Amino acid sequence: MYLCPMMIPKHTVQEVLDASKVEEVVGEYVQLSKRGVNRIGLCPFHNEKTPSFTVSPAKNIYKCFGCGESGSSVDFLMKHEHFSFPQAVRRLAEKYGIHIEEEEQTPEQIAKENEREGLFAVSKFAADFFYKTLNETDSGRAIGHSYFVERGFRQETIDKFQLGYSPEEWDALAVAAQAAGYSIDSLAKAGLVIKKDQGGVYDRFRNRVIFPIHNISGRVLGFGGRILINDKKKPKYVNSPESLIYDKSNVLFGLYLAKNQIIKKDNCYLVEGYTDVVSLFQSGIENVVSSSGTSLTEGQIKLIRRYTPNITILYDGDAAGIKASFRGIDMIVRAGMNVRVVLFPDGEDPDSYAKSHSADELDAFLEKSAKNFICAKLWKP
Ligand code: UTP
Ligand code: MN
Repeated sequence: MYLCPMMIPKHTVQEVLDASKVEEVVGEYVQLSKRGVNRIGLCPFHNEKTPSFTVSPAKNIYKCFGCGESGSSVDFLMKHEHFSFPQAVRRLAEKYGIHIEEEEQTPEQIAKENEREGLFAVSKFAADFFYKTLNETDSGRAIGHSYFVERGFRQETIDKFQLGYSPEEWDALAVAAQAAGYSIDSLAKAGLVIKKDQGGVYDRFRNRVIFPIHNISGRVLGFGGRILINDKKKPKYVNSPESLIYDKSNVLFGLYLAKNQIIKKDNCYLVEGYTDVVSLFQSGIENVVSSSGTSLTEGQIKLIRRYTPNITILYDGDAAGIKASFRGIDMIVRAGMNVRVVLFPDGEDPDSYAKSHSADELDAFLEKSAKNFICAKLWKP
């Protein structure tokens, strides 16, 4: 893949920020009227009937007193258009006629970027390999595919989430990837194989059903692999380790598929497990994500905040689930967001509930049971 070895120099970013008039940038999207030295309008980031979205030409920033969203012209474009930082800067440079003289990257920067691209490529290869193994090989169909079918996952759901299966072999992926031209080194750096002390490698994921984890633009960063039978001696899930492309505290499983519905519903459901995300999605609740294998982080909350200020936590009705939900609530409130909680009946989780109820019943249950956090605290179980 050809990589553009250019980046926008810092001083140009500053020049663009200085030239941008926040009231003009925001004004392209929001109808603003004068209020004293400021402009106000209806906030584009949450639903409101009376304007609390304020733009300050003097400070060159916007702030919504309803949802807390605030920032510069660049922040506004990143949030509203879902642009990356360079995309937002380029758009503003165009608008204000500023020429961007791009800086050449240093050889180290280019090497790092190429290494990242290499990890993206090998991760994509692995995701395709697991998906094909699940759907097109005899053992994949007999073991992995029938496992998902037994759990009630439909083919369209398997396809949407690109679920897969890793065969019961020590090096099936390593062999296939090398045959396709990927190096052992990139496989190891992506966490897909583990190097043996005595030399050689073995696959990290063996005889497991695979949940690929994507970033918000749909690129595969890593995987969670679930065991097929209960075995107390083995971990239920094996997860990819962190890597140059996979920073767990800034990734949410399912966000790539959920983001549009999160914006539309102006709410994000947060669940505990991969299977909860897949099950709810299949039942028509598509605005759902989970923090994969880690406890909720501030980075993950910020990610959600790009799409909505409202989070509804769905946690298992057991003690661990309740404890986890209170930890999460605290962080979300501190981030200035609105949080509601649904606790499932003891022994049930979103996955089991979605399975034993119709989509309408599930929807009604979530609506009826969501308590804002103050009520939930008073109600303390
Ligand atoms: P759960 O045990 O609730 O798993 O752990 P689950 O995804 O709901 O799976 P099922 O429905 O029982 O088959 C919740 C999440 O915690 C992480 C995974 O991200 C899992 O989805 N986890 C759990 C691990 O990373 N490793 C483990 O060994 C167990
Ligand atoms: Mn679970």
